[in-house]
Order: sequence, then C-alpha cells, then structure tokens
Amino acid sequence: MTAEERKARVRALAKVNLELRVAGRRPDGYHELRTVYQTISLADTLELSYRPARLSRLVVESEPAIEDNLVERAAAQLIERARLRGEVRIRLRKHIPMGAGLGGGSSDAAAVLLALPVLAGACLPAPELLELAAQLGSDVPFFLWGGRALGIGRGSEVYPLPEGGARWAVLVIPPVRVSTREAYAELGRTLTGRDGERIINSFQSSLWSQTLGAEQTPQAASNDFEAVVFRRHPELARIKRDLAASGAGAALMTGSGSAVVGLFSTRRRAEQVRRVFRGRALVTFLVSRARYQSWWRRWLARHILAGRQWPPQSRYRR
Ligand code: C5P
Repeated sequence: MTAEERKARVRALAKVNLELRVAGRRPDGYHELRTVYQTISLADTLELSYRPARLSRLVVESEPAIEDNLVERAAAQLIERARLRGEVRIRLRKHIPMGAGLGGGSSDAAAVLLALPVLAGACLPAPELLELAAQLGSDVPFFLWGGRALGIGRGSEVYPLPEGGARWAVLVIPPVRVSTREAYAELGRTLTGRDGERIINSFQSSLWSQTLGAEQTPQAASNDFEAVVFRRHPELARIKRDLAASGAGAALMTGSGSAVVGLFSTRRRAEQVRRVFRGRALVTFLVSRARYQSWWRRWLARHILAGRQWPPQSRYRR
C-alpha cells in the first residue's frame, strides 16, 4: 500500500513598504533598515504535496522558470532541518512581477516554511522557523506573520504595527527591473557615518505620528532608495508625482523598486486612477494580519489541528 499523499494549494502574497529608511552599512555587509511592511492581495500560487517515503525527494516546477529559486532553497533546508522523509512536490505560478520590490520570491519561500511542516507532520518551533526564514532572505520572516509590521536590523526583525487608514493600493509597474544588491551598494556609497542617527530619529518620529494619528497610514512616507533609483529611471519619479497628484494618501516606491504604490481609501477612486496608467497599473487591497492568518488557516484547514495557534500546527505530528 502506498502512503497517503497530502496536498495544499496556497497563495504567497506580495508586500509593499510603506516607509523605507536605510541608516548605514553594518559590519556584516548588510544595511541597517527601518521599514514598514504591508501585505497586499496580489499573490503567487503554490501547489504543494507531500507523500511519506523512505527517502526524501524534492521536485519544484516553476512557471515561468526561475534561476536560483528561493522555493527550492526553502524546501531543501526544511527537509534537512526537520529531517523529513518523503516526496515533496511544489508547483509555483508567478503572478507577482519580479525585480519590482514586491517581495514575491521571499513570500514564496515563507509559504513553503508555513505549509510544508504542516503537510509533513513536522513541528518546527517558531524561533527555528524564524531563523531559517532570515537565512533565506531579509524579507522572509515578515511573511511568516503578514499584515503591517515594523522591520528593523537587516529587515528580518519584525514587530506587529497597528493597522488602519487607507485600504486600497494602486501599483504601477514600470517596465524596468532593479537589482536589490546594486541599489543597496549605490545607496550605501552616499551615506556617511553621521547619517544613521538622524535617519533613525526621523523614522521614529514619523512612525509615532502615524500610529498616534487617526489615519494610521503613512502620509509623508519616504523611501531612501528613491534618490538613487529615480536618478537612473526618471520615469519613476513622474509616476510618483502623478499618483500624489491624483489624491493618493501616500505615494512612494516599494523596496528597491521598481513598482510605485499609491494608497486610496475607496476602491472606486483606486480604479479610476488605475485607468489613467493604461495597462501599467493594477488595484490591490491591503491585507491585515488577521485576514492573512485566517486565509492561511483556511488553505491548510484539512491538515491542521483546530485552534488559533500560529503558525498552524500539523495534525500529522510525528
Ligand atoms: O537578504 P536578501 O538576500 O534579500 O538581500 C539581497 C541583497 O540585498 C543582499 O545580498 C545585500 O546586498 C542587500 N541587502 C542589504 N541590506 C539589507 C538587506 C539586503 O545590503 N538590510
């Protein structure tokens, strides 16, 4: 008799940065960040299956094919750390544009970290999962929780933030890709040792005024990458200006670019603005932490123990 195959179809949501400040280069070569992450409804889809077996085997299919796929690295690491014995198959369908600062690859990796232990009956304690996530990429830990969160350090230390204000986001995706590594290197060259404290203080006062204010949405949000990326791609500065002029509550580039996001309080207004950008823009909504986690519970419902534990606990626990 062959062992039962366990399957799940999940979504890996994109993120936008509602504020992104780079305070300086760290001794480990990374940069010290202060950022606000926010999950949005745009998503890749992953179909995962697990069949217990004597030996472990991993097959990843991706559409389109991706070199050095983070999904493959996340699954391979998990198989090794949790000593999984079984056949793992993952089919990834990309919908989140790549090289746009939307965190698609990181979210795909986090989706594997959330789903695979549940299917395989492994119980990886949250701190271990977090450590594995941070090794895979600076943005990956955020996607283990979703919603709106403060990211500090490399961006992998995350804390929940109050969620409120505008709920709709227009994403304008220009036909340029930005290399994160190169954008950091270029921005790092412009920073002096004295900038760090000033940047951290100004981020903190901006965060205080947002979370204490009625709106709770970054109004004067800024992204330090804009200075270097807009110099190379002036059309992005024009997009930001057009979004701000159309009444966006906040308009800024996300991550190291190239997507530019505008926040709106009604869907109607967001749709009107999308049409102005003719095929280059899409409307998404901000996904709260509660909704993110309830979606995940739903996608894994057949395989988890009832209850509100997070991350979800497998009902096949070994
Ligand atoms: O962590 P992740 O693999 O996503 O980072 C990609 C690249 O971005 C790193 O190799 C590094 O060059 C740069 N980076 C950085 N500081 C951060 C995050 C990323 O310099 N806080």
